[in-house]
Amino acid sequence: MNVYDSDRMQDLMENIGYETVDTPEGADMVLINTCHIREKASEKLFSDLGRIRPHKDKMKNDGSQMIVAVAGCVAQAEGEEIFKRSNVVDIIVGPESYQTLPDLVGKVIREKKKQINLDFTPNDKFDVLPQSKSGIGASAFVTVQEGCDKFCTFCVVPYTRGAEYSREVSKIVDDAKRLVDQGVSEIYFLGQNVNAYHGLNEKGEVASLAKLVEEVAKIDAVKRIRYTTSHPRDMSEDLIAAHRDIEKLMPFLHLPIQSGSNNILKGMNRKHTRQDYFKIIEKLRAARPDIGLSSDFIVGFPGETDKDFEDTMDLVRQIGFTQCYSFKYSPRPGTPASDAKVQVEEKIKEERLFELQKLLTEQQSTFNQKSEGQTMSVLFEREAPGSGKAKARAATQLWGKSPYLQSVIVDVASEEEAKKYFGKIADVKILKSRPSSLVGELV
Ligand code: 5AD
Ligand code: SF4
Repeated sequence: MNVYDSDRMQDLMENIGYETVDTPEGADMVLINTCHIREKASEKLFSDLGRIRPHKDKMKNDGSQMIVAVAGCVAQAEGEEIFKRSNVVDIIVGPESYQTLPDLVGKVIREKKKQINLDFTPNDKFDVLPQSKSGIGASAFVTVQEGCDKFCTFCVVPYTRGAEYSREVSKIVDDAKRLVDQGVSEIYFLGQNVNAYHGLNEKGEVASLAKLVEEVAKIDAVKRIRYTTSHPRDMSEDLIAAHRDIEKLMPFLHLPIQSGSNNILKGMNRKHTRQDYFKIIEKLRAARPDIGLSSDFIVGFPGETDKDFEDTMDLVRQIGFTQCYSFKYSPRPGTPASDAKVQVEEKIKEERLFELQKLLTEQQSTFNQKSEGQTMSVLFEREAPGSGKAKARAATQLWGKSPYLQSVIVDVASEEEAKKYFGKIADVKILKSRPSSLVGELV
């Protein structure tokens, strides 16, 4: 979501004549988009601001001005406090009000005053955003839903992103059509609670995410559809059936469970049990036997015992995931769990995270090994990072994604040859697997 928002802010600024540069040195404006989900992500803002200060001072000494804007969920959560902690900052703008960024920049220049806008107006935002120029490749994000009403006790999202809001079906279909006209093949639906989607269709009826997938799948040039992030409680029957019936919907699902212990799930206010999760997975696998599964896990949530943690390990062993994200619990100010008296010791959190990640990495490697020898359809997006430089023998390496969201790398003769494949889907025979990628050859 933050990558998407950063691209949209880039569009907004390019629309009024700004260009993107690679370094803050000499930049007229520096925009930092921030994440508040865990403490570590949040603290990065202030170290970044410290690094920007000398560049801003130098420009001032040279008689010019650098405008520094802080956007995203740290801006939303900390507001004016950011001005107090760092006088480098000129603009504070929240994730639901960044459409006003050009306006705020104008005001800083004209009125020579710091600006702040933390309004919640997601509807306005999508109506005024310029057509996207940045971030266009083979695959493009389309926000279909924002915000969250679930209030998990560890999570800041309902406070920073606000209440759940779904965009209308027709607006999303229009976005998808425009993107495929620009060469996009894969549409990636985004939302903090994407499967809670309930946007209106043209008849004024409420459409589910499954219906939205169906509508977008009708667009010929859309070859692949994905969505993230889902909640087990919203994993409806029609969405499970869509994984069986709609070929363009990719066989991969990121479905965070957070913990395998019912006690902890209760403390987290997840409103589902581990048994509910097993049942959903069973149905999904019946609908689409090859589906790749992913999840988020938190270890060391307040009160988590060895037995609770073992329940998580057991669930992971039973299900078998293809790739996952896992985190140590990070108390977030203002969330109910942060006040709990029984916080888990840092050392125990570390040990549990290590053990869980070891198992998850093994599962990912096993899944990747099973791909060896298979032929898979790969959507090629760009050259692989470091392509051409790494080894003299590999003139150019192409990077793409398998249906199961694995990274796939193939060698091609030249950069020109590589470009022919950008945005295209081609069959690749997998020759070798690595822990987090596959190496293959074009068939
Ligand atoms: N501490 C640790 N992890 C968290 N997440 C959300 N809030 C916290 C927190 N306070 C994780 C959850 C969520 C993912 C995006 O971040 O696993 O699914
Ligand atoms: Fe946060 Fe997801 Fe829970 Fe919403 S459902 S509160 S976004 S973890």
